[in-house]
Amino acid sequence: MTVRHFLRDDDLSPAEQAEVLALAAELKAEPYSRRPLAGPQSVVVLFDKSSTRTRVSFAVGVADLGGNPVVMDTGVTQVGRGEPIADTARVFGRMASAVVWRTYAQDGLEQMAQYAGVPVVNALSDDFHPCQILADWLTVIEHKGALAGLTVAYVGDGANNMGHSYVLGGATAGMHVRVGAPEGFQPDAAIVADAERVAATTGGSVTITKDPVAAVEGADVVITDTWVSMGQEDEKAERVALFGDYSVTSELLAHAASNAIVLHCLPAYRGLEIAADVIDGPQSVVWDEAENRVHAQKAILTWLLERA
Ligand code: CP
Ligand code: NVA
Repeated sequence: MTVRHFLRDDDLSPAEQAEVLALAAELKAEPYSRRPLAGPQSVVVLFDKSSTRTRVSFAVGVADLGGNPVVMDTGVTQVGRGEPIADTARVFGRMASAVVWRTYAQDGLEQMAQYAGVPVVNALSDDFHPCQILADWLTVIEHKGALAGLTVAYVGDGANNMGHSYVLGGATAGMHVRVGAPEGFQPDAAIVADAERVAATTGGSVTITKDPVAAVEGADVVITDTWVSMGQEDEKAERVALFGDYSVTSELLAHAASNAIVLHCLPAYRGLEIAADVIDGPQSVVWDEAENRVHAQKAILTWLLERA
C-alpha cells in the first residue's frame, strides 16, 4: 500500500476529510478507544518554529493513541546543522512510525515524505496549516451541525498558511469560502485554482475580495489570524499599517449572521487582527477550537497509520 501523507488540505479527498472528522468526533467522545501506536511505537514531532498548541496537542495525542512522542526542536538536531532532509527522513523512518514537522518551506515536507517511508504530517509550513483546519471544522460541526453549504469568511492575511488552508480545506468540505484581504496579500492563484476544482465537485465556492465587509456579510463563521506570521517579524510595522481595515471588531462582526461563530487559530493579538471584546465575547469558540487540535490530530494520525 502507498504510504499516505498530510502535507496540504487537499491531500484528503472530500470523502476522506469527512471520514477523518467523524473519527475526530468519535475520539473526542472516547479518547482512549483507538491504540494504533500501542507498543509503544514512536512518532517524531519536529519544530523549526515556535509552538504551544501544536507541540502539546501532538505530545498528548500520540500518548493517548498508545505511542511515544519524540518532540524536538530542529536546532538540537543534525538537520539543523545542514544534514540533508532526505538522510534525516530515512533515519526517522527506521526509528518511528510517523513524522510530524513544523517548518518553513513546503518542499522540505515533500522531501521528508518522499524519503521517510512512514506517514508525514505538516504541523504548519509557510504555505499551509492543514491540522488546524481539521480542528476548526470539527469545532464548526459541533456548533453548526454540518459544514457543507455554510459561508466562512476569513479576513486579514489571505496569502499566509491559514488563508491557503481555509481556501483548500473549505472547498473540500463544500463550504463557501470568502477571503477578505488587501491586494498583494490574497491567496496564491494556483491554490485558489486547485480549491475551485475541488469546490466544483463539492458544491462549495471560493470568493476573494478586497472588501472586509463584503467578505463577512451574512457569514456563518468569521475567522482571522495574525497579520505577522512566524518568519515575517521584520515586516511588522508595514503589515500592521496595511491590515488595519481588516481587524475583526464588533462592528465588522455585526455584518455576519447574528448567530455567527468566531474562530482564531491562536496565538491572537488583541487590538490588531481581532478586538478583545470579540475574541473574549459570546460568539468566540476559540477554546473549543484549541482543544480540538488534540482530537483532530489523533484522528489524522490514526487514519494515516491504518493505511501505512
Ligand atoms: N494554532 C497553532 O498552531 O498554535 P501554536 O503555534 O501554538 O502551535
Ligand atoms: N499564520 C501563523 C499561524 C500560527 C499558528 C504563523 O504562521 O505564524
